[in-house]
Amino acid sequence: MFLLVFFVLLLCNSHGLGGSLNDEGYALLSFRHGITDDPEGSLSNWNSSDESPCSWNGITCKQQRVVSVSIPKKKLYGLLHPALGALSQLRHVNLRNNKLFGSLPVELFGAQGLQSLVLYGNSLSGSVPSEIGKLTYLQTLDLSQNFFNGSFPSSIIQCKRLKTLDLSQNNLTGSLPEGFGTALVSLEKLDLSFNKFNGSIPRDMGNLSSLQGTVDLSHNLFSGSIPASLGNLPEKVYIDLTYNNLSGPIPQNGALMNRGPTAFIGNPGLCGPPLKNPCSSDTPGVSSPSSIPFLPDNYPPGNPDDSAGNSEKARGLSKRAVIAIVVGDVIGICLVGLLFSYCYTRVCPCGKGKDENGYGFEKGSKGRKECLCFRKDESETLSENVEQHDLVPLDTQVAFDLDELLKASAFVLGKSGIGIVYKVVLEDGLTLAVRRLGEGGSQRFKEFQTEVEAIGKLRHPNIVTLRAYYWSVDEKLLIYDFITNGNLATAIHGKPGMVSFTPLSWSVRLKIMRGIAKGLVYLHEFSPKKYVHGDLKPSNVLLGQNMEPHVSDFGLGRLANIAGGSPTLQSNRMAAEKPPQERQQKSATSEVSTTSSCTNMASCYQAPEVLKMVKPSQKWDVYSYGVILLEMITGRLPVVLVGASEMDLVHWIQLCIEEKKPLSDVLDPYLAPEADKEEQIIAVLKIAMACVHSSPERRPAMRHVYDALDRLAMSAD
Ligand SMILES: *[C@@H]1O[C@H](CO)[C@@H](O)[C@H](O)[C@H]1NC(C)=O
Ligand SMILES: *[C@@H]1O[C@H](CO)[C@@H](O)[C@H](O)[C@H]1NC(C)=O
Ligand SMILES: *[C@@H]1O[C@H](CO)[C@@H](O)[C@H](O)[C@H]1NC(C)=O
Ligand SMILES: *[C@@H]1O[C@H](CO)[C@@H](O)[C@H](O)[C@H]1NC(C)=O
Ligand SMILES: *[C@@H]1O[C@H](CO)[C@@H](O)[C@H](O)[C@H]1NC(C)=O
Ligand SMILES: *[C@@H]1O[C@H](CO)[C@@H](O)[C@H](O)[C@H]1NC(C)=O
Repeated sequence: MFLLVFFVLLLCNSHGLGGSLNDEGYALLSFRHGITDDPEGSLSNWNSSDESPCSWNGITCKQQRVVSVSIPKKKLYGLLHPALGALSQLRHVNLRNNKLFGSLPVELFGAQGLQSLVLYGNSLSGSVPSEIGKLTYLQTLDLSQNFFNGSFPSSIIQCKRLKTLDLSQNNLTGSLPEGFGTALVSLEKLDLSFNKFNGSIPRDMGNLSSLQGTVDLSHNLFSGSIPASLGNLPEKVYIDLTYNNLSGPIPQNGALMNRGPTAFIGNPGLCGPPLKNPCSSDTPGVSSPSSIPFLPDNYPPGNPDDSAGNSEKARGLSKRAVIAIVVGDVIGICLVGLLFSYCYTRVCPCGKGKDENGYGFEKGSKGRKECLCFRKDESETLSENVEQHDLVPLDTQVAFDLDELLKASAFVLGKSGIGIVYKVVLEDGLTLAVRRLGEGGSQRFKEFQTEVEAIGKLRHPNIVTLRAYYWSVDEKLLIYDFITNGNLATAIHGKPGMVSFTPLSWSVRLKIMRGIAKGLVYLHEFSPKKYVHGDLKPSNVLLGQNMEPHVSDFGLGRLANIAGGSPTLQSNRMAAEKPPQERQQKSATSEVSTTSSCTNMASCYQAPEVLKMVKPSQKWDVYSYGVILLEMITGRLPVVLVGASEMDLVHWIQLCIEEKKPLSDVLDPYLAPEADKEEQIIAVLKIAMACVHSSPERRPAMRHVYDALDRLAMSAD
């Protein structure tokens, strides 16, 4: 009795008159106490003198009971307070992309009506409590990008209404429970990638007949064979099994049939089509990496950071015949409005009022509210299956919005295998390059997002910066900095219809060579994932105001694949996944006859081993870079006409060197007046020859190439 009185007094004291706030309000204030830092003041109107919390930021009520707590992306720092579990009518919790840490409190699962729990992108740790199984109404569980460890929460299979299960990018271990496939009958989206799950893939997984999009089990420790029943998944499902420890033959049925090798790489024990290493018949299912005949030594995964995406990108891209249809330099057609009118109308209806709550991005003073509909925050959790309509900025400097983009004038810059590129000039004069990717691919937003945001993090003066992107079902746009001086291919060779062609001087060439090398060193060694560009060629090197190079189109093939790709790209992908025999024959013949190995311009920049190797290697880029150097020294296209036959540039130079031809025969005639630079030119030629060495191991690392060029330039000064 005494205690009770004391408690009541305490409440009255600390909350002023009356203590009129209801229980749910107090529960939420407890939650707020767990937050130690709220730099944006997102909880500042959570006022204890209100009667109910229903007007507070981030809170939605129904019949005066709290049904949703949604405060995404607000830099909230602190613990996730258990008091949320006391909100008996709570349906939706969305606290994604904050800075919450500590464990997931068991008490949270007291809110048994919970339908969605979205906590991705925090720093939560510890295990996922088994009490999660109590949430029988749960439809969306997204705990990805945290630090959860411990074993797979087996009780999840009691959440029979679960539609989305995303546990990716944690440190979870253990095996998936038996019954996983038969219990979660409603499951539509499954992402378990980048954890440490082990054990075998449950055989009943193939019973998950509602799955859509990508089923991602990649980057785990799953072992054993791939159950044939997995082929029973809906045919449109893409099953990503890369970088596990799976072994044995790949079943060829249903959803597993006619897949390319990209879904299976990084599992040294897998064999049979579509991979190149055959299953040895006497020891079915067990073959150690060293016994695989056709794979190069450095094939087994080793470095999971060199993501599977790179290989997919490289394969998709490298095969495509790039037809650079340059439609005049600047055709002044103001067609953006027309072009985007479709996405415009699709965007508007859901935009109203969104940014009043503060989830649009800050866009300066201009108050265009009709068309803002950026983040998927609320819609994602409150109503299922809402389409994504985002113009998503990738850095804080982005001060334009979709609306401004739509009103801008645009010029077609070029058209390649991967969509059309426009130059877009905004009202305030800001100029951007906008690339339209294909249509379709609506299922894979998250994948696209992950990829594009990783690319968006790259910041280097010699890499073209991706500033923002836009995603909807029908339209996918990538928004880059606009680089003013065209591309290197045009700068070396000119182009038809060009009125005045100013050949590059040797010092400018050297500057460009160094800049490209510097950008590649960054990609290879200092970027977050130690990337491989995979499609380096002069048309992908853009030149800035002072002829400083900017490497572009990095990661584009991968993005286009996820986005559904253009028809060209898809056919190229298919070409990349042709039966392996054909490719082996082709490369075999190219090894025999040493005259010409590339069949079209684009493939001349590819290292010879690209056709044979599954895992992309930085040495591919070194080769491509070497060809670019040769092109800049000789002024010749990568395919050289010798008499009536064609020869690739690399072999042509080798021939010239063998025949001890004078430098003047090889050199770009435009460089003839700079004969005094001969020593430097020969030094660069030597570097180039090292880069195009037929054996990847013998090629130098980009870092060494850059150092050598640097020394050269210094000695010249
Ligand atoms: C809370 O609301 C009361 C009355 O509505 C007001 O006087 C007080 O300043 C508010 N407190 C905060 C922190 O906003
Ligand atoms: C996983 O755990 C290891 C150590 O056990 C730690 O180094 C690593 O950062 C953790 N990764 C994540 C994503 O939590
Ligand atoms: C999970 O990580 C914490 C530290 O963050 C550690 O104390 C605990 O032992 C880990 N649990 C498991 C099961 O690995
Ligand atoms: C999975 O890993 C855990 C340790 O993380 C180990 O105890 C367990 O035996 C493994 N299970 C299988 C099937 O390999
Ligand atoms: C799972 O699917 C298989 C065939 O795909 C079927 O034979 C089996 O009965 C299913 N199991 C359950 C529990 O539905
Ligand atoms: C992979 O599986 C094999 C057996 O198939 C096992 O011997 C090996 O230890 C596993 N490797 C890892 C990293 O789990």
